[in-house]
Amino acid sequence: MASGLAIVLVGLMLGAFDYANSPYVTAVGWVGDQPVPFSHKHHVADDGIDCRYCHTGVETSPNAGLPPTHTCMTCHSQLWTDAGVLAPVRHSYASGEPIRWQRVAQLPDYVYFDHSIHVNRGVACVECHGRIDRMPLTSRAEPFQMQFCLECHRDPAGRLRPPDQVTRMEPLGWTEAEARRFGEGVIAAHHINTKTLDNCGICHR
Ligand code: HEC
Ligand code: HEC
Ligand code: HEC
Ligand code: HEC
Ligand code: HEC
Repeated sequence: MASGLAIVLVGLMLGAFDYANSPYVTAVGWVGDQPVPFSHKHHVADDGIDCRYCHTGVETSPNAGLPPTHTCMTCHSQLWTDAGVLAPVRHSYASGEPIRWQRVAQLPDYVYFDHSIHVNRGVACVECHGRIDRMPLTSRAEPFQMQFCLECHRDPAGRLRPPDQVTRMEPLGWTEAEARRFGEGVIAAHHINTKTLDNCGICHR
């Protein structure tokens, strides 16, 4: 608790400068130095693999999860078997040592987040991760600053979809009024209280 408070105070001090909005801090567009040049563009857009095939926790747990090496090897034991870029994948599979991916979209420890609650209410991946299907190398699409979360929490109605459409990258083609009408239905059905969704304790527990 005491350390949490200290972090919050330091955060407030930093917030006084424009440090918090600089690309250095928001990390938008930053591409990690990955052990394997994994391409969402190839795997999602060209090969049509659904997000949930690799990020299996996304509907059921706080963490989406990164795929274990055997998920890669279901295809790459047959495909591109001699490719140099895949050598670290084969090595990981043979040795049992997991591939160490650099995380590009991560929150500080003092913020609580849960994928399943968002995904099950119909908040699409693209709302927070952008057009992953167009990224040859993965980068952060949104700053994940507090304001980003709060904007939606104060008025989520226009930004919800049927849960079976959450991994779709393309817009649904709804008008703003249609989207809002749908979202208001979801909010009513699940008794989502948008008056309390920006309380500090929702995200800082
Ligand atoms: C369902 C099949 C499938 C799975 C699972 C899969 N890949 Fe691939 N991968 C492909 C195909 C098909 C290609 C050929 C790329 C293309 O579309 O041109 C490819 C190409 C690649 C390439 C070559 C560079 C490129 O993108 O063209 C790398 C690197 C790669 N995959 C890494 C991985 C890693 C790492 C995993 C596990 C996290 C993985 N793949 C899982 C099917 C798969
Ligand atoms: C074939 C497996 C595969 C598929 C399909 C896939 N991903 Fe990934 N994803 C990965 C791997 C491997 C990484 C780690 C390497 C990287 O960042 O590129 C990753 C990383 C990410 C990250 C970055 C997380 C972080 O903090 O570093 C996000 C966000 C993400 N994926 C979202 C998606 C979304 C959204 C979809 C569907 C549109 C999707 N992924 C489909 C394998 C996959
Ligand atoms: C409401 C915003 C939001 C939505 C919607 C969302 N994510 Fe995330 N995602 C995040 C945040 C925030 C993080 C960083 C979490 C952390 O560091 O604690 C993250 C992290 C990830 C990671 C990194 C690994 C992990 O275990 O968390 C992957 C992979 C990922 N998201 C995939 C997805 C996929 C796939 C979808 C859609 C099915 C999705 N996300 C929907 C906000 C979102
Ligand atoms: C596009 C809309 C949207 C964005 C962006 C978004 N959220 Fe949410 N979030 C929701 C909705 C809708 C709910 C309500 C789910 C419910 O109560 O059924 C929710 C619920 C939550 C909850 C769970 C509250 C509980 O009752 O346990 C947490 C925690 C949370 N969000 C954190 C975050 C954080 C942190 C971010 C930013 C990184 C974020 N959210 C961004 C729409 C969003
Ligand atoms: C919907 C989620 C959410 C809610 C609600 C929320 N926060 Fe935050 N907060 C965040 C996120 C995400 C960050 C991380 C920002 C970053 O990494 O730059 C953050 C960071 C902070 C920081 C660190 C400095 C900064 O501004 O980046 C302080 C202080 C803070 N929150 C205080 C509060 C207080 C006080 C409330 C209630 C009035 C609150 N938060 C409500 C998500 C939330």
